[in-house]
Amino acid sequence: MSLSRRDLLTASALMLAGPGFALRAAGRESVADGLTKPIVLCWNENPYGPSPAARAAASEAIAVSCRYPDDELKPLAAALAAREGVAPECIVTGTGSGELLRALGLLAARDGGEIIAAEPTFTEITEYAHSCGASVRFVPVDKRLRLDLPAMAAAVTARTRAVYVCNPNNPTSTAIAAADIRAFVAALPDHVTAIVDEAYLDFVTAPEVTSVVDLTQGTRRVVVLHTFSKIHGMAGIRCGYAVARADVARELAAARMTTPNVFAVRAARASLGDQAYLSDTRRRILASRLRLTTALAGLKLPYGEPQGNFVFFDTRMPLPRFTELMRARNILVGRHFAPYDSWCRITIGTESEVEAFVSALPGVLAGA
Ligand SMILES: Cc1ncc(COP(=O)(O)O)c(C=O)c1O
Repeated sequence: MSLSRRDLLTASALMLAGPGFALRAAGRESVADGLTKPIVLCWNENPYGPSPAARAAASEAIAVSCRYPDDELKPLAAALAAREGVAPECIVTGTGSGELLRALGLLAARDGGEIIAAEPTFTEITEYAHSCGASVRFVPVDKRLRLDLPAMAAAVTARTRAVYVCNPNNPTSTAIAAADIRAFVAALPDHVTAIVDEAYLDFVTAPEVTSVVDLTQGTRRVVVLHTFSKIHGMAGIRCGYAVARADVARELAAARMTTPNVFAVRAARASLGDQAYLSDTRRRILASRLRLTTALAGLKLPYGEPQGNFVFFDTRMPLPRFTELMRARNILVGRHFAPYDSWCRITIGTESEVEAFVSALPGVLAGA
């Protein structure tokens, strides 16, 4: 067997990247039925990736990776605190905000506690809390696919430890006004922690939808979560943080299992300083989101009013069929979210990826 120069280059790149990469690369190819590089619109990732400053910072961090990064966590917390307008003791960093959601789920599960969440919503906290012994009460979203805060408030019992408010909500991409969250939090009993996940807030265009991070400093137990996985394009680097009152932050910090590594810490700090890049990313994603919703409207397919970097829409066919037809065109789309059996979540990819999806839609809808 003779190997071409390209084969050799690919083989050496895979060897350098390690066996995990080779396996994942092989898996991706098989998903696309032999075609390389499927268009991945299923994970709510930001395809533009980290800013040049963050890339440089992560690359340079290899030189100091023999050291524990503990001394670098405080400056990161200080930078985040300055950004959020709170004291550094109010910041808890984690290996992605998903880790902090799990830690919050663990705290809610103590003594068989109960947690309230929307249906559908992001299930990191509910699944983990359930596995730790919590009971979970799901409250359906309203007709416009928005969190039904009055119904969630009505579901609170003496056993409720936490209410999870994902705003914008994953997978519906809809969002609710900050004023509604404020009223909701003010009416919660003292024993309930409000967990407000603002992972997608940077993609919001509705003026009434703003951060409620200031609520963390009040008398209620409120935790607000932010991540570097979305607008910062660093999902693979794993870094997120929570903002909470100092006493609540201490409890959360004690319940988490890990802290960010040196690549995450340095890339996060660099990314915070690269606002021009983040603005440009936002502009591009919002333009593609509009391109997608315009196409959906043209095809008369209902969708939730999107405020995140993804759109949830009705395919009007069983989702497995839609998924299969898209996969045959080398496009991977979101999974099933009960009870929305014909609805699909599409992540906003690059301009050309969104264009490919929009071009594929008519044929897929015709069942071809
Ligand atoms: C609503 C929501 N919160 C948190 C996360 C987790 O983000 P991270 O990558 O920081 O763990 C996600 C990931 O998709 C998400 O959709």
